[in-house]
Amino acid sequence: MPSQSLETVVAEIAAEMAARPDRGQVATYIPELGRVDPNQFAIAVALPDGSVVCAGDCATFFSIQSVSKVFTLTLALGLAGDRLWNRVGREPSGSRFNSIVQLEHERGIPRNPFINAGAIAITDLILSGHKPREALAEILRFMQFLADDDSVYIDQAVAASEERTGFNNRALANFMKGFGVIENPVEYVLGVYFHHCAIAMTCRQLAKAGTFLAHLGKNPATGNSVVTAERAKRINAVMLTCGHYDGSGEFAYRVGLPGKSGVGGGILAVVPGKASVAVWSPGLDASGNSHLGRIALERLTARMGWSIF
Ligand code: DON
Repeated sequence: MPSQSLETVVAEIAAEMAARPDRGQVATYIPELGRVDPNQFAIAVALPDGSVVCAGDCATFFSIQSVSKVFTLTLALGLAGDRLWNRVGREPSGSRFNSIVQLEHERGIPRNPFINAGAIAITDLILSGHKPREALAEILRFMQFLADDDSVYIDQAVAASEERTGFNNRALANFMKGFGVIENPVEYVLGVYFHHCAIAMTCRQLAKAGTFLAHLGKNPATGNSVVTAERAKRINAVMLTCGHYDGSGEFAYRVGLPGKSGVGGGILAVVPGKASVAVWSPGLDASGNSHLGRIALERLTARMGWSIF
């Protein structure tokens, strides 16, 4: 059993992270993200009784970027069920998050729903039969519902910044369209994708939004059932194996939890049966995952005895 309380551990970790000179590099390929101050850090732990233990810049909104892919996967599974796996695989890619190389050899089917190609294919599924505006509104409403907070929003400046510079994602989407993996017009799919990546949340909201994943698909505090226990188990499995791209092995080794990162510097991690944790620090490591976010989670699981292994 841990000798310190969760409150003490969380406060200590925030103080340790604030003091570190090594902060990683903020993403600059989306110019708007390059303007974020790297000297920020937040950690929030959402507990089954609905309380959230926070430290650092927990009320600051940040761009959740690829963390949104956990929630679009959840929505798409609700819409398409296991048919989804005909369009997207569920194996780690071992490649960077924006890599195109495997698509050529694998009939345009992305390795998993979290690399950019896979998430774009998932967005296409969510879009089917809807206007882009409706699909996006549904994703945003889902995030507000899960966070139990209507202040979750889409940062239009970040979305516009990525629309202007998203050449690589356009290449991925067009390549998949050539294989028939994308059904809707590429620009519609990308419009929704860029905007759901630009969802802005606080660490407190993100931790709350992940609660259903830690408790068999249900939020124990609100009684809301989001997915079946079976589905929550499967989403967690894909987070564990693919949530940090080619850094997923290192994350499992050091932190030992299912997790999903984003280039905005956020990470959502799931402690089954115990907590949903969000950390945020904008500086990234070489794999594009939050440098201090990962270190903070490593300390949290070590001090609380919270690794799943
Ligand atoms: O498509 C992109 O490149 C970004 N909107 C999201 C990438 C991302 O967050 C990768 N995460 N570490």
